[in-house]
Amino acid sequence: DVEFSLRPRKLNEYIGQEKVKENLQVYIQAAKKRNESLDHVLLYGPPGLGKTTLAGIIANEMGVNFKVTSGPAIEKPGELAALLTGLQAGDVLFVDEIHRLSRQVEEILYPALEDCVLDIMIGKGPSAQSIRVDLNRFTLIGATTRAGQLTGPLRDRFGVIMRLEMYTPDELCDIVMRSSVILSIPCDRSGAMEIAKRSRGTPRIANRLLKRVRDFAEVMGNGKITKEMADIALNRLEIDKLGLDSLDKRFLTMIINGYNGGPVGLETLASALGEESVTLEDVCEPYLMQLGFISRTPRGRCATELAYKHLGLVRDGQQRLD
Ligand code: ADE
Repeated sequence: DVEFSLRPRKLNEYIGQEKVKENLQVYIQAAKKRNESLDHVLLYGPPGLGKTTLAGIIANEMGVNFKVTSGPAIEKPGELAALLTGLQAGDVLFVDEIHRLSRQVEEILYPALEDCVLDIMIGKGPSAQSIRVDLNRFTLIGATTRAGQLTGPLRDRFGVIMRLEMYTPDELCDIVMRSSVILSIPCDRSGAMEIAKRSRGTPRIANRLLKRVRDFAEVMGNGKITKEMADIALNRLEIDKLGLDSLDKRFLTMIINGYNGGPVGLETLASALGEESVTLEDVCEPYLMQLGFISRTPRGRCATELAYKHLGLVRDGQQRLD
């Protein structure tokens, strides 16, 4: 499956996140040398930066099975128990959105992480008793966009905690070039760079835009992705020079025109825009913060001078007291 093969399978095929990769390489090598499984790993950072991909690579490099689930998918403690007892020695269990595990489920995870055992309650009331089940050793890899939302006890049980950073345009350009080769899309470096610059630091977006730009190149051009073709296509997609899309622009103009540049609370913005606050927080804000277009203050979000400039707006001088 060509689609699936866009995901690198080896650490040395994975582009970017250099510090994370270097340290992981050491942890993997050390664990293998001692014939142990890798300590539990927490990966956090904005969506689309390759947390699932990296987890798959870790399993592959360790030579173990890779089982995938997510916080909201595990509804009852028994479901997690079934997953854990089904693991073979050393396997990786990947739990996406791990901050969304219920408290009950989280509690049966603690002894599993700490001592490789499950404490299962059977019966109810005075006759209830707990039985202990030994598990194979395993590695939990948790992924979250919001490490701050994990409970302390859960966070403390990860031996390795890694934050994924947004990618540079050069790194994204390399990723787009690699993907274009895998997908057999003719693409020159200037075309790839134009896509890279407008992908808001995110490989998932870069790969998606590559496919959309290909559509325009095939229908409106000769099929080759050049800077000019990428420019035409991305303008049609209403993605601007910095990668801002219509939601980012609505977000910024709402702060500026609706609330005089802020500060304005996130919930207020969310209802004014008809969007969920988590979407704004996880999807829009990381990149707008990275660009320095918004600041987060105790009283809410503010648009910065840079945001006004980018949108071609001027700040109303009379309203400023400073
Ligand atoms: N495809 C998506 N993310 C990637 C990455 N970090 N390196 C290589 N290919 C990718």
